[in-house]
Amino acid sequence: MNALVTGGTKGIGFAIAEAMLATGGKVMITGRDEGRVKQALTALAKSAATGAQVIGATVDVRNREGLEAAIDRAVSTFGTLDTLINNAGVGTFVDVENMSDEAWHQVIDTNLTGVFYATRASIPHLKRAGGGWIINIASLAGRNYFANAAAYCASKAGLVAFSEAVMLEVRNDNIRVSCVMPGSVDTEFSHPTKSEDSSWKLTADDIAEVVMDLLRHPKRSLPSKVEIRPSRTK
Ligand SMILES: NC(=O)c1ccc[n+]([C@@H]2O[C@H](COP(=O)([O-])OP(=O)(O)OC[C@H]3O[C@@H](n4cnc5c(N)ncnc54)[C@H](OP(=O)(O)O)[C@@H]3O)[C@@H](O)[C@H]2O)c1
Repeated sequence: MNALVTGGTKGIGFAIAEAMLATGGKVMITGRDEGRVKQALTALAKSAATGAQVIGATVDVRNREGLEAAIDRAVSTFGTLDTLINNAGVGTFVDVENMSDEAWHQVIDTNLTGVFYATRASIPHLKRAGGGWIINIASLAGRNYFANAAAYCASKAGLVAFSEAVMLEVRNDNIRVSCVMPGSVDTEFSHPTKSEDSSWKLTADDIAEVVMDLLRHPKRSLPSKVEIRPSRTK
């Protein structure tokens, strides 16, 4: 597996990269901060199986040219690209009346437009590889909407729609597109306080397991949408 995982410096993306590397995969991770990318690469290299390879690119998914250059580097380093995990995402939790243009654009441009940029640039490489996977990490917030999360819910609902439409476009090119919709996952994303009990939440590894399960599906099978939530509420 030759993969690009956007937003692989921590949380769900890091866990997905780690799981791929444990099976001998070649993985590029991305993130906005050079220091965090370097730190993640060091940590990921420790758990990589023989033959696995991990590289990093400091690039914001909103930067189309930078992202395209990173994808080209992954292809030239690994030879091909067969797996794209669109994971990078942010949330802003404020009511619409008080939401700034900047906050709106940060969420929509990262969670939706960034996925478009990465997907469009990757499809020709996946076709050249004879097919592969595009897995989009959406959210249950893309179906179950809630107050003070309009930008986030809209971005993830848009991502669910985007995933299904592109799935229909490329399925006959042996490219499988799946949308994973997690509920609450215990990562830095939700800015938990130290005293908060998060033991009821999913872990990043739970989401990585879903992704690895998808990648193991036989060629004839495409679970195109997966909802996953904690088995119990708080
Ligand atoms: N945690 C949850 O409860 C939950 C539930 C459902 C869905 N999700 C989704 O799961 C995905 C991962 O979330 P997480 O919980 O793992 O969050 P996280 O721990 O905050 O990690 C987010 C990752 O995305 C990267 N990132 C953020 N903005 C970026 C940008 N503009 N360009 C490139 N990389 C960017 C971050 O790297 P840098 O900061 O280094 O750039 C980091 O690696 C997101 O799409 C999120 O919406 C999370």
